[in-house]
Amino acid sequence: MNTDPKGRPDMPLALVTGGGGISLAAARRLGRSHRIVLASDSASKNAARLATLLEDGVDAVAAECDMTDPVSVAALKKFVAVHGPLRTLVHVAALSPTMGDWRDLFAVNLVGSALVEQACLELATEGSAAVFVASSAGYLAAPPVPEVVAVLDDPMAPDFLARLDAVVESEERTSLHAYRLSKFALRRMCRFRATAWGVKGARIVSMSPGSIATPMGTRELTGPNREVKLDLMRKLPIQRVGTMAETADAIEFLVSDRASYITGTDLLVDGGLVAGTRPDLSLT
Ligand SMILES: NC(=O)c1ccc[n+]([C@@H]2O[C@H](COP(=O)([O-])OP(=O)(O)OC[C@H]3O[C@@H](n4cnc5c(N)ncnc54)[C@H](OP(=O)(O)O)[C@@H]3O)[C@@H](O)[C@H]2O)c1
Repeated sequence: MNTDPKGRPDMPLALVTGGGGISLAAARRLGRSHRIVLASDSASKNAARLATLLEDGVDAVAAECDMTDPVSVAALKKFVAVHGPLRTLVHVAALSPTMGDWRDLFAVNLVGSALVEQACLELATEGSAAVFVASSAGYLAAPPVPEVVAVLDDPMAPDFLARLDAVVESEERTSLHAYRLSKFALRRMCRFRATAWGVKGARIVSMSPGSIATPMGTRELTGPNREVKLDLMRKLPIQRVGTMAETADAIEFLVSDRASYITGTDLLVDGGLVAGTRPDLSLT
């Protein structure tokens, strides 16, 4: 008899990366049906995050991982493997435009995501599902020229950042552009990797939130890109910001068996932001 209400060895395991609003909302929601490994780079903040999950009755452990560091991601993979077969991955960790420069954003949002994808594919089994949190911002940059796309499609190349710098003019290397391009490339990565996940009977999708009321969302609304954001939000068909519960709803569905025929695609959870601003955009 298990008398510990928080010990749920019967439940499948989910890895949730990041420790911000969207990650914690996802961890709390998936915690109803999964054991949770919550991984992000800040060990000092992780203790408090873990405490809130445990208080909610979630069977959770925290792990420290710098997603940009292959050694750190390999250690996370080992840690997850010890806790059980990986049923679910929700990769949320990322930097927003005000949180770093051109290189930082690509290192975390794209190279880090690719490292996590590779590690988790090795842990995936029949029925596993992965959601990578992208952004509606990934639809908003002018479509990159083919030579830029070719570089973006190979983030594991050892000289990735140097190759990218060689094909993007220096005045274009802003953090806002890096955010948009990295999320554009992340969406493509999920599409391209669907076959490899399918071979294991597993699924991979991306989910692109619009403006969500999180600390990151608020930071962007008060930072240097405020006018860009406000201008986009004026065109929202659903005239409000989204909530973390609404992103958790989408994530919960996408990883569930109700989404068992959905892979290699992106789900926009953006209040119609892309529809309102780029109605004729082909959603690739
Ligand atoms: N909020 C929005 O309006 C919005 C809109 C569109 C898309 N998104 C996307 O949604 C996701 C999360 O958003 P959020 O608002 O919840 O953001 P957040 O609160 O800033 O969370 C992002 C997390 O990423 C983690 N992180 C950053 N660099 C890392 C690294 N090198 N290794 C490991 N973890 C790292 C941070 O961990 P530590 O705190 O431990 O450092 C942080 O908790 C992001 O992918 C973002 O691009 C958000």
